[in-house]
Amino acid sequence: MTKRLYIETVGCQMNMLDSELVVGSLRRVGYELVGTPREADTILFNTCSVRQHAEDKIYSALGRLKHVKDRHPHKIIGVLGCMSQKDQALIFKRAPHVDLVVGPGQLHRIATLLEEVVAGSGARMEVSLDRADGSRQEIEQSFEIYDPLRDAPMRPTPFQAFVRIMIGCDKFCTYCIVPKVRGPEQSRPPEHIELEVRRLVDEGCREVTLLGQTVNSYHWCAGSRTTRLADLLCRIHDTAGLDRIKFVTNFPKDMTQPLLEAVRDLHKCAHYLHVPAQSGSNQVLRRMKRGYTVEEYREMLARIRATIPDCAVTSDFIVGFCGETEDDFQQTVELVRDGRFKNSFIFKYSARPGTKAFDRYTDDVHEEVKRRRNRELLALQSSISEEDNRAWIGRVATVLVEGPSKTGRRDNDDGPITQLTGRTSCDRIVVFPGNRRLVGQWVDVRVYDTSAVTLFGTVVTHQAGPEVYTLNVVPA
Ligand code: 5AD
Ligand code: SF4
Repeated sequence: MTKRLYIETVGCQMNMLDSELVVGSLRRVGYELVGTPREADTILFNTCSVRQHAEDKIYSALGRLKHVKDRHPHKIIGVLGCMSQKDQALIFKRAPHVDLVVGPGQLHRIATLLEEVVAGSGARMEVSLDRADGSRQEIEQSFEIYDPLRDAPMRPTPFQAFVRIMIGCDKFCTYCIVPKVRGPEQSRPPEHIELEVRRLVDEGCREVTLLGQTVNSYHWCAGSRTTRLADLLCRIHDTAGLDRIKFVTNFPKDMTQPLLEAVRDLHKCAHYLHVPAQSGSNQVLRRMKRGYTVEEYREMLARIRATIPDCAVTSDFIVGFCGETEDDFQQTVELVRDGRFKNSFIFKYSARPGTKAFDRYTDDVHEEVKRRRNRELLALQSSISEEDNRAWIGRVATVLVEGPSKTGRRDNDDGPITQLTGRTSCDRIVVFPGNRRLVGQWVDVRVYDTSAVTLFGTVVTHQAGPEVYTLNVVPA
């Protein structure tokens, strides 16, 4: 019998990948994916705990399902991912109609657990050990690296895929819940990663994004040989049929020169590095336990720019961390001004129970001040992004066409020509009119206009086949 599955995912790319893999493994045991909770007989939430807001959203979605469960007691409601590992049985307390709680290190058990719940086992919970509850080895073993064979339909597009190269994190930044809910840092063997990339490319994938919480800390030791990210990139680069390799997220201290040189020398590597700074103030960085000074971060930025001059760098910042003064904030403003990031993700500090900052420091920056700092930093970053994007006017960008643009004009929606979107090697979004047939192919696009987040252009040449031709499409 077919079972209908609805899954909602919040959070980072790691969660998107986890959901894709969960759907893949459930399809194999007879589930089909549906688009709304109403059509489903199994409703799963893959959750995030990085900020309070993400958890609030899930708890209110669960609350809304209470009356649905009252009316349809056979519908199964499951909570997966980081919030499951963090809150565990508290989820049943706050939402007693939940049937299943599964941590990110236990996702391989999902099909069996669902089967047990369907058979009438009652509510089930499967989570990994807490980081204080055993030896390093025991805790590592309780976080299974979940990378089963997968199906294409949940991928960002059929020709793009995320590939996990490591799990967990050992950095323990004081504000961050990730090391607790995703467990110890563990890298996957390079052979497994290579094989997975090979398989994906055989299925038509042309771009892979390697994932890790601190992806550039990747290392695999076999005998006396250590494989680091630079070596792994080299190995993957040899995959025939693969066109582009990206990797996120980088930790500033692990941005080594051999890695930068690998990105420079391996032509399939995107010239795009996401390296969160978090703050421009040494006092704040120290309290965050980031392990570097702002001078060291600036030196790293200079090394990136010297080694790969056209590389786009993006960052994350937290405003309003415990004890952040106006002067601290101004130093972050200066870093954003000087850093000329392609874009920055800016977050208001959210105190997370279970982190060192929660235990040690007072969340003493007023919400209104956090909001104002967030607005100010965003406005500065937007003006920089806009200015740097303007330099693209008249230039030609090579773009992997991802699909119809969600934000583009909808004038010719039913015809073959529509607004398409894709990304450059430096991760800039490009929107242009073109034939739907171009989806999944590389095209050259001449840029005629820009905004802070988008380049607008027209197709110059179509590079996919041996024949190169011009499309006669002009912007309105
Ligand atoms: N509050 C606000 N932002 C946070 N991040 C991580 N933990 C917190 C927190 N407690 C941000 C960091 C990180 C990004 C994924 O989320 O900037 O790089
Ligand atoms: Fe969290 Fe720091 Fe690890 Fe990133 S490096 S996941 S911010 S603890």
